[in-house]
Amino acid sequence: MKRIAILTAGGDTPALNATIYGAVERANQHKIEVLGFIRGFAGLLDTRAPHVRLNPLYQTIPELDPCHGGTLLGASRTYIDPSNREQVDAVKRTFHALNIDGLLCIGGDGTLNGMQPLSEAFPCVLAPKTIDNDLGLNYIDEPNEWALEEVGGERRYRRLPGRPEVRLADIINYATPGYATAVFVVAQGVERIRTTAESHRRIAIIEVMGRESGYIALGSAYGQPDIILIPEVPLDLDALESRLRELYSLQKHAVIVVGEGVVGPDGKQLGAISTSSVDPAGNVMFSGTAEHLKRIMAKRLGDDFFRMHRRHESAESVFFTRKVGHTQRGGRPIRFDRFYAAQLGGKAVDLLEQGQNNAVATLQWCEERGFTLDSIDANHLRDQWRIIHPRMLHTSLYDAHRFQPSKLGCQYLMPIFDSAIGSEDVEFIRDELFSAGSLLNRYQSKNVALQKRVQTLHD
Ligand code: F6P
Repeated sequence: MKRIAILTAGGDTPALNATIYGAVERANQHKIEVLGFIRGFAGLLDTRAPHVRLNPLYQTIPELDPCHGGTLLGASRTYIDPSNREQVDAVKRTFHALNIDGLLCIGGDGTLNGMQPLSEAFPCVLAPKTIDNDLGLNYIDEPNEWALEEVGGERRYRRLPGRPEVRLADIINYATPGYATAVFVVAQGVERIRTTAESHRRIAIIEVMGRESGYIALGSAYGQPDIILIPEVPLDLDALESRLRELYSLQKHAVIVVGEGVVGPDGKQLGAISTSSVDPAGNVMFSGTAEHLKRIMAKRLGDDFFRMHRRHESAESVFFTRKVGHTQRGGRPIRFDRFYAAQLGGKAVDLLEQGQNNAVATLQWCEERGFTLDSIDANHLRDQWRIIHPRMLHTSLYDAHRFQPSKLGCQYLMPIFDSAIGSEDVEFIRDELFSAGSLLNRYQSKNVALQKRVQTLHD
């Protein structure tokens, strides 16, 4: 293999540059040239095929900084349509014109679905990324637990009952680069909201990302919220109301973390804008989950309950909602993400170099050996209709009665977060955040600097 292409697709994460960096450094060792495509699959489908040489003379370009969040190459939510043969042929022509021998995609389940048709035309591998931590499997036979059914003329997937408990060592792709930093941001946010909710005797509802997967919500436990609600367990409104009453009576405030994809007792997502609002990968787009929950709970608890506690005039004024939002996806990656992102990027290059196709680099964990790198054939992640589904948090990791991680959930989180932050992360905050240089100089965009290196097919 002499020359490969790399791209970053889907929503960004703080660890993307670290993955690209790890891949390019490994390619340098193998004496493989790396072309970075600009803006993910959008760049690949662009007739000009904008790209950049990431390692001229097998030296990584200086703009590529593994500690800098986001992606130097840019990302988009454009995906390859598996049913569009013309798209695949167009990419094939571009690869031929640029003498590219293989493709490394950095992405999540949407990217992996988009990579499937391409892998029939030339070698492709995936290095995982997603803050949602939903790329992978709880156990190897999980894809067979999906059923496809027709509801009101619409085809819908439904999860069939699976194993009652997971073994942590069976999890395929235990944690994905981007997840740890997102949890770090969320846990800090929860801590900060806590003290203000406490001071003003209010109930805070904090909405976190993750789509239909509750991993980020689960990890928010490090910020010690009183109640965690995950999308995998439909809301039990009576139990939630009664827990809130208990909490408020005892501590005169409460902090709730809600995953943006939580579903009500009727199985409908609280925050789905509408079932027809999907992004180009087919993901439902969420908005207003926390607000919706606030309206439900304020009505249930009612003004009298709070007047009785002589705290507030109305239930509405007790509650406030906050979305952690895109801060979860941005900024400097913490050590866990930097380190394993770079490792997985390198592993993906090794897979291409070894002649593998449609393979995914994975991060495994077991008690005896800790974290190790591995890989899986992407075909194992597909269901019988060939779709790769986002991994859901296994409910054995969550205690629905306490609204907290279960014992197993805590055991799942600890290997990731025990030493997720390095002393260099702490030093970075101390040295950089209030550096006088930040006041005097404008932000120097590495992505702007990279533009000067961009080439197209027509150059
Ligand atoms: O999949 C990553 C993710 O950050 C989700 O957690 C979230 O729902 C979505 O992307 C947000 O997408 P956008 O950046 O397009 O608003």
